[in-house]
Amino acid sequence: MKKQTLLLMTAAISFFTACENKPADTVTKPGITEKPFGVFENENITQYTITNANGMQVSIINYGGIVTDIITPDKDKKMGDVVLGFDSLSGYLQKGNPYFGALIGRYGNRIAKGKFVLDGKTYQLPLNNNGNTLHGGVKGFDKVVWQATKLPGDSSLQLTYASKDGEQGFPGNLQSTVVYTLTADNSLQISYTATTDKATPVNLTNHCYFNLSAGKEGTILDHEVMINADKYTAVDTVLIPTGQLPDVKGTPMDFTTAKKVGKDIASVKGGYDHNWVLNRKGNDLEEVATVYDAGSGRFLEVFTTEPGLQFYTGNFLDSTLHGKNNWVYAQHAALCLETQHFPDGPNQPTFPNTILKPGETYKHVTKYKFSVK
Ligand code: BGC
Repeated sequence: MKKQTLLLMTAAISFFTACENKPADTVTKPGITEKPFGVFENENITQYTITNANGMQVSIINYGGIVTDIITPDKDKKMGDVVLGFDSLSGYLQKGNPYFGALIGRYGNRIAKGKFVLDGKTYQLPLNNNGNTLHGGVKGFDKVVWQATKLPGDSSLQLTYASKDGEQGFPGNLQSTVVYTLTADNSLQISYTATTDKATPVNLTNHCYFNLSAGKEGTILDHEVMINADKYTAVDTVLIPTGQLPDVKGTPMDFTTAKKVGKDIASVKGGYDHNWVLNRKGNDLEEVATVYDAGSGRFLEVFTTEPGLQFYTGNFLDSTLHGKNNWVYAQHAALCLETQHFPDGPNQPTFPNTILKPGETYKHVTKYKFSVK
């Protein structure tokens, strides 16, 4: 036990030291650079790095549309990488990669028993999670090659993916476009659109694992989180919604006022892995959550157009994955803030609609804004 703790600490320290090797004053020119990142299914994988005028950087690969790095300044202007990931493509391809940084589709989170009925027809998806379908099936949008285009303006990367009728059991040819933009105010904005030629469930999201200390702290238990939600979707033992929307008030699920992740986590079996029902005024971009790490001073604000937020505290990380800069990812090494429609939407008539029909356009915008305080 002692040895493991020591190993984790050493790994976390070496990660932090490696990050610190990139001082803020190493000014990299704003724009988008490219670097080869390996080969997958005979296709070249490229890593695109978007840099803004403040020196903030976001790197994305066209395999899974994965955000591999987000490098932001701390309160002392030292740059650090605030997302979990791997140094090379083989890391991302390994079994047990828990969707680090990836685009998730065609349906984010779970569909009960991988089954739904649409226009009188029953569809069966591959089961990959306790008899249910998680994150789009065995080969979701996180495991395919997206076509990448650098957009004019030098701050946006567009990714497109054409998912075929019947792919992973879903009906309809689905054309998805995701645009990653690094803005002048240090925000990573993700805009999703999709169209289909047959009615189909669609729920796209991104699965970044954030640790705002950039590895200085081995877990996120001291990060302070606020989620603007009075209710959450209750789940059964295999994390399928029961349909009930309990109030968070007076429970460990209450994040309406910022609190440390670790404050009540022990009372939540397995840790936080739930969808919060966001308090929304309308359908525009609204601030729905914040995360603060006092040690580094980094502050993250999440804005979205979506009705739900999956707050997941890396419960299944178990020190078996060795990430970037020799960091061993222990339980709760990072947290995810997956903006989305509710899990199992296609089987839950009272949840917001997740069926996209021909002629309609699926639209979702989420913004992760980084600053310090
Ligand atoms: C899910 C977790 C799952 C994780 C995969 C989250 O979105 O809610 O249950 O383990 O993704 O890494």
